Amino acid sequence: MSHDSHDSGDTEGEVSQDAPSTAPQEEHPLASYVLRVNGTDRPVTDAWIGESLLYVLRERLGLAGAKDGCSQGECGACNVQVDGRLVASCLVPAVTAAGSEVRTVEGLAEDGRPSDVQRALARCGAVQCGFCVPGMAMTVHDLLEGNPAPTELETRQALCGNLCRCSGYRGVVDAVKEVVAEREAHSAPADGDTDGARIPHQAGPGAGGVNASAFGSPPESHTPDPHTPDPHDQPYGQDGGPA
Ligand code: FES
Ligand code: FES
Repeated sequence: MSHDSHDSGDTEGEVSQDAPSTAPQEEHPLASYVLRVNGTDRPVTDAWIGESLLYVLRERLGLAGAKDGCSQGECGACNVQVDGRLVASCLVPAVTAAGSEVRTVEGLAEDGRPSDVQRALARCGAVQCGFCVPGMAMTVHDLLEGNPAPTELETRQALCGNLCRCSGYRGVVDAVKEVVAEREAHSAPADGDTDGARIPHQAGPGAGGVNASAFGSPPESHTPDPHTPDPHDQPYGQDGGPA
C-alpha cells in the first residue's frame, strides 16, 4: 500500500472508529476484525493493518506454533493454511484473512493427540531443534490433502519451500511414506468390506431395532426343510450370537 493512500485517507473506512484521528494513526491505520482460526472466531482489536498474519497469530492470539524464520517467504517455518491453501503467513496481511478459515499447526491435533503426520515426523527423526517442524507438518498435511499418495519426487517438490538447517529432509520423506502406508492400511478394510452376508448377523431381525423388512423377502426358490430350523430364525443376542 502506498504512502499516498495513507495520506489521502483511502483506508479510513477500515480504521477503528474508536481510534482518535491523529497523524500517527493515519500513517499507521488501525483495524478491528475477526479471524477464524482452527474453527474458533478470534477477535483482533485495533491492530495496524500492515501486521502480518504470522505476527497476529503469534503476538496477538498467542498461537506460537508458526515460526518466524525469515519474515520474507523463504523458509516455510510460518506456513499455515488459509481457506485450505498453504501460505507463508509472514507474507499475508492478517486483515486480508478476516472471513477466511485459518488453520495452524495447533489445529492439526486429532482428539487431543498429535496428528499422524506429526507423530511420523517424530518417529522418523525429522525433528532435531524442531524450529522448522511446524511448517513442515503444515506442508505435509497440505500435500496429502491434495495428493494422498505422492511419489518421493512429489514430496520433495512440495518440501522445496521448507528449509531445515538440522536434520535434512530424509526423515520428512520417510514420514510421508509412513503416513501414506498407515492411511492406506486403515482405509483398506472399509474399501474391501463387500461381505453383505455380515449385515444380518450383526443384528438379527427383531434384535437391536432393525426393521426386518429391510432384509427383503426370502427367495422363492428357498424351500427350507421343515425339520431343519433356519439359522436366521434363531434369536440373536446383541453381539450377533445366539441369545
Ligand atoms: S518466516 Fe515466513 S517464510 Fe520464513
Ligand atoms: S529440525 Fe532444526 S531446522 Fe529443521
